Amino acid sequence: MSKGKILVTGGTGYIGSHTVVDLLENDFEVVSVDNYHNSKAGVLDGIEEITGVRVANHTVDLSDAVAAAKLFDSNKFDGAIHFAAFKSVGESVTKPLAYYRNNLNSLLNVITGLKRQGSGRLVFSSSCSVYGNADELPVTEATPRKEAESPYARTKQMGEDILYDYCAAHPDFAAILLRYFNPAGAHPSGKIGEDAAAPASNLVPVITEVGAGKRDTLTVFGNDYATRDGSCVRDYIHVADLAHAHTLALEYLMSDRATENPALFNLGIGEGLTVLEVIRAFERVADQPLNYDIGPRRPGDVVAVYADRSKATRELGWEPRYDVDDIMRTAWAWEQQR
Ligand code: WQD
Repeated sequence: MSKGKILVTGGTGYIGSHTVVDLLENDFEVVSVDNYHNSKAGVLDGIEEITGVRVANHTVDLSDAVAAAKLFDSNKFDGAIHFAAFKSVGESVTKPLAYYRNNLNSLLNVITGLKRQGSGRLVFSSSCSVYGNADELPVTEATPRKEAESPYARTKQMGEDILYDYCAAHPDFAAILLRYFNPAGAHPSGKIGEDAAAPASNLVPVITEVGAGKRDTLTVFGNDYATRDGSCVRDYIHVADLAHAHTLALEYLMSDRATENPALFNLGIGEGLTVLEVIRAFERVADQPLNYDIGPRRPGDVVAVYADRSKATRELGWEPRYDVDDIMRTAWAWEQQR
């Protein structure tokens, strides 16, 4: 007996595909919608190899109101998880309108579609980037949001605000905002992983590409910060841990346990690692040195950010299972067979 039929937007993307696997393994029925802007249809084969289920994907551009309405008029969902968005910080600086148009219109069309069919349960993919350069660490859900560092981060702040306002006007519409820290790693099976259309820019995939000889070197963006070794601190969370948190969030929504609407959760493991420590993790796991050099700071980087995850553990029952070596081991295995 299925626990319910869930729409996963961006279901062939990096976090989306891992979440589809976790939902299927937890007795949900899943429908994906993805226009393959930053993913590949072959991911559906990987999901099928892991779960034995051939997930249907609708290649719909959710920022198109008419196309989105047709999707919701032809399917009844018990809830939705909304990943579909443009997510490159750097690209958002050069193409702000594309980011506002796509990320905000897609969200508005998903909310409208769910409301039209009377199923108001939505898990929204937000980001730790809404905290900007936080004054206090670790950041809790009560830490004030600060000025966004990029149009991308601002679309996440606006997405949160849209849901706060909509849920206030429609209390029967239940939402959860999940603020991701730094997702990394790949599914332990090696069948799915990070395979974006654009060249990798995040630290872990850049490291594994250098390790595999697909890139000459990694440039560490600054080692003169006020941190334990001078390089920036981030909270790296295994993508499979992040995926399972979405399943728990959906069950939380469907059980009506929520005491706030929208409910808000940080999803980081609660530990900060420096860039150089992540490099050491690769060298440990791959048993080979990594070729890297020290370069100038990257504009927009915050010095350090990591989560207080106690609320997600307390209210969702979420406990991360993987550490940075697991992240690196699965990312490295994925890179080598990619
Ligand atoms: C991590 C650290 C870099 C590449 C990103 C998104 C953000 C959110 C979380 C979705 C930083 C350093 C990196 C390199 C380096 N995602 N680095 N050399 O910027 O923390 O956040 O993931 O919500 O929106 O931007 O991730 O992997 O780019 O950087 O030194 O070649 O690694 O300076 O300190 P970031 P990142």
